[in-house]
Amino acid sequence: MKRKLNINIDHVATLRQARQGTYPDPIDTIEIIKKAKANGIVMHLREDRRHIQLNDLRRFKKKYKFHFNLEMAPTIDMINIANKIKPDVITLVPEKRMELTTEGGLNLKTNFDNLEKLVKKISKDIRIMFFIDPIKLQIDIALKLKAYGVEINTGRYSESTSYYATKELKRIKKAAAYSTSMNLYTAAGHGLNENNLSKLVKIKDIKEYNIGHSIISNSIFYGLYGSIKRIQDIINVDD
Ligand code: PXP
Repeated sequence: MKRKLNINIDHVATLRQARQGTYPDPIDTIEIIKKAKANGIVMHLREDRRHIQLNDLRRFKKKYKFHFNLEMAPTIDMINIANKIKPDVITLVPEKRMELTTEGGLNLKTNFDNLEKLVKKISKDIRIMFFIDPIKLQIDIALKLKAYGVEINTGRYSESTSYYATKELKRIKKAAAYSTSMNLYTAAGHGLNENNLSKLVKIKDIKEYNIGHSIISNSIFYGLYGSIKRIQDIINVDD
């Protein structure tokens, strides 16, 4: 089975922002990503603009028709940006200023009122996904919010040592099966790398992976094309 792989290019921009300069340019990765036959890209426009900048989104859209998933916090300012940029998909994620990276799934229960208002404002031609922890209730609420799909947070799985990783894997498997049975498109992401992916890819209900940090890091050693191919070799194992 061919699973989809979207490359998160945020950390190309992290390197550029380290010197507040013009290179490396995350948009320059697109040709390589297309050549490697990944399915699309992900960019997270954070409110503090620590890596991807608004102009990166504009430049990407001007030049490419490639599949684009825009990750963002659930705020009206971000929705207004998305409505102008028109990514194919938006993934709503929780965001905290002080965090090093996204720390957990978006709690759809506690944020329900805000989310219900916001999703009504999202342009109809943009598919909506929610980044959630592997919990049935979160999937039920995603359905109520008319989601196209969910991205299951694999952060806890990827950080866990074996006993907890196995437990977390079971939760992810159950959540992915439930999400698929409810006709939600099911993706997974956060903290995934060459070591922890092989167990996860056994979960057939996960149709798409969104991976950034490990692929961009490994491109130091293998080049971006090689780094993507190494991940594709793992996720495209035959069933
Ligand atoms: N999915 C979501 C919702 C994320 O927030 C991130 C990190 O920006 C990723 C996937 C990619 O995670 P990583 O960079 O650890 O592969």
